[in-house]
Amino acid sequence: MQWGMANRLAQLIQADGHALFLPVDHGYFQGPTRKLEVPRQTIEPLLPYADALFITRGVLRSSVDPDHAKPVILRVSGGTSMVGKDLANEGLTTSIEEALRLNASAVGISIFVGSDYEKETLLNLARLVDEGERYGMPVMAVTAVGREMAKRDARYLALACRIAAELGARVVKTYWCPDFEKVVTGCPVPVVMAGGPQVNTELEVFEFVHDGLEKGSIGVNLGRNIWQNDLPVAMIKAIRALVHQKATPKEAQEIYDSEKGKGKKRS
Ligand code: 5RP
Repeated sequence: MQWGMANRLAQLIQADGHALFLPVDHGYFQGPTRKLEVPRQTIEPLLPYADALFITRGVLRSSVDPDHAKPVILRVSGGTSMVGKDLANEGLTTSIEEALRLNASAVGISIFVGSDYEKETLLNLARLVDEGERYGMPVMAVTAVGREMAKRDARYLALACRIAAELGARVVKTYWCPDFEKVVTGCPVPVVMAGGPQVNTELEVFEFVHDGLEKGSIGVNLGRNIWQNDLPVAMIKAIRALVHQKATPKEAQEIYDSEKGKGKKRS
């Protein structure tokens, strides 16, 4: 592996082989997502506990100070919205040159396997990998499911992750699902888990993250279940313990509970 590629990956995946990415890119198709309305307010308290931010260039430039930043995974696909015809019809929004200018450690792109735009999004990934490899820039592929959350089963996600890896993604972001080992085993590059919409209890999040880690995921790219929680800092500290300290779900819950008195509740 080229030195630049290896160095960028090492900025993202920590020495223990694990990673906690904090995605705050949701506005690129959802607009001002709940509790991400003012990105800086959401990001700043969480930044010390994240290994990297997954973010668009607009929010990076406007809402993150360059002198205190963590490694950046730059979201470079988009062009569609919640109110448009088809979320899956994404294109590339940001060049590799811009990613280099912003000192990104990786670029991230969604693929929509099984959608009407499967081929276009997969070819976008392949093109981005070609460009990225030229400059030593890792590509993280995001297996997007659009509005069809029912697609989140091991068979579908294993298919989508494997295709992403075959096309050259260096990291794949997918959803946790039952039988998650089938997803990880079939994917020859590191897999990180997203959370999806906020679930009912913190313990549910801790349990699925723990299960995914046990089954071979290297970590998380977890957004709403952190920053939409009433106590986002407590939540990210607990998730960090799962990812980097091999905490059990019960121990993560104890960390969350012990932070309760200290944390300022966000409205
Ligand atoms: C949005 C994304 C997000 O980065 C990803 O879904 C993770 O966030 P969450 O845990 O909120 O699902 O790719 O398009």
